[in-house]
Amino acid sequence: MSLIDHLSPPARNAPESQIVAMLNYGRDREGLIPLWVGEGDRPTPDFIARAASQGLENGETFYTWQRGIPPLREALASYYERHFGGSHDPETFFVTGSGMQSIVLAVTAVCPPGSEVVYATPSWPNISAALAISGSTPVSAPLEFGETGWTLDTQRIADAVTPKTRAIFLNTPSNPCGWVASRENLADILDIARRHGLWIIADEIYSRFYYAGHRAPSFLDVADADDRIIFVNSFSKNWSMTGWRVGWIKASAELGQVFENLIQYSTSGVAQFMQRGCVAALEEGEDYVEDQKARARSARDALCDALLATNRVRMVRPEGSFYAFFAIDGLDDASSAGYRIIDEANVGLAPGTGFGPGGEQFFRACFLRRQDQVEEAASRLADFISGI
Ligand SMILES: Cc1ncc(COP(=O)(O)O)c(C=O)c1O
Repeated sequence: MSLIDHLSPPARNAPESQIVAMLNYGRDREGLIPLWVGEGDRPTPDFIARAASQGLENGETFYTWQRGIPPLREALASYYERHFGGSHDPETFFVTGSGMQSIVLAVTAVCPPGSEVVYATPSWPNISAALAISGSTPVSAPLEFGETGWTLDTQRIADAVTPKTRAIFLNTPSNPCGWVASRENLADILDIARRHGLWIIADEIYSRFYYAGHRAPSFLDVADADDRIIFVNSFSKNWSMTGWRVGWIKASAELGQVFENLIQYSTSGVAQFMQRGCVAALEEGEDYVEDQKARARSARDALCDALLATNRVRMVRPEGSFYAFFAIDGLDDASSAGYRIIDEANVGLAPGTGFGPGGEQFFRACFLRRQDQVEEAASRLADFISGI
């Protein structure tokens, strides 16, 4: 028997990330254009880094508020008032050690082991993996891909509910599909949750990367204050802070002590000086977010135009997030084909096989990068596709 055999089943069975496996295969290739990971190519802007450095210089290196420093929770409340309307109590915000940790804490809070959680697929692999590690079973409600792109028939969510279901997890705008739930979709899902007494875990991390308006429709647009919704979010994407590992949860103030406890017994809080950087991001970072979105939109168009012009891909221009999700005619298994694309086109993509039911034939390309690099990647991919 090996040491592994003596581990708990959730740890033993946790899947290796297929994205990381592909990245490990190609990471040292000379000239490879990496579109596999979900982040932009720019470092955190100076005004945010400076605010954090200042905090560090000021000796903000002690244990701090578990839920987050008051100025950051107040800045989050004003951010929501500016972008989502209504009034928001700072007591409804909890600072966490990343969007990923927000997901884990939300699942821990509402899903006892043995629960089922319904989620729409294709979906970012970490969501189902986090559910499985916590002892829950992810139950897929697949999005459909048709002429107009990805759509969600919310009846599929209703049909997936069983007596064991505790929550519906919805990520919109979606990683990897770029699909964005409409206000009607959200109202329907909320209705299903209310009827069955379920929680909603709302991952709206890409809410500002929405190309048809200022921000994507949110459960905040349709919910009442006493609905059972936990919002998970992050500083990572809007402000180029993926390496910081800071996120937040928005939930009823009634859950304050619970989230404080869960934070205490996991990370015991986020470094105070980093939280100063996060305050700067929220208070001074609006132009930066708009610039990120403009950059993503123009790279999206370059990539999608080039791929669609081959007439050999199935895809639509994504309405939100910063990923193109496409299938190539003649290539049915994205996993093996992803390695071939590294070898033959020198472009790194994430294989849709890791994204749950419905993604097996698709590739995900992150386009939040310098325009010339995205254009070069698009042209290499187009050449590769025409040679199949
Ligand atoms: C849908 C979704 N949710 C959550 C996260 C977590 O982001 P982070 O842990 O960097 O804050 C990501 C990151 O890629 C994501 O795509």
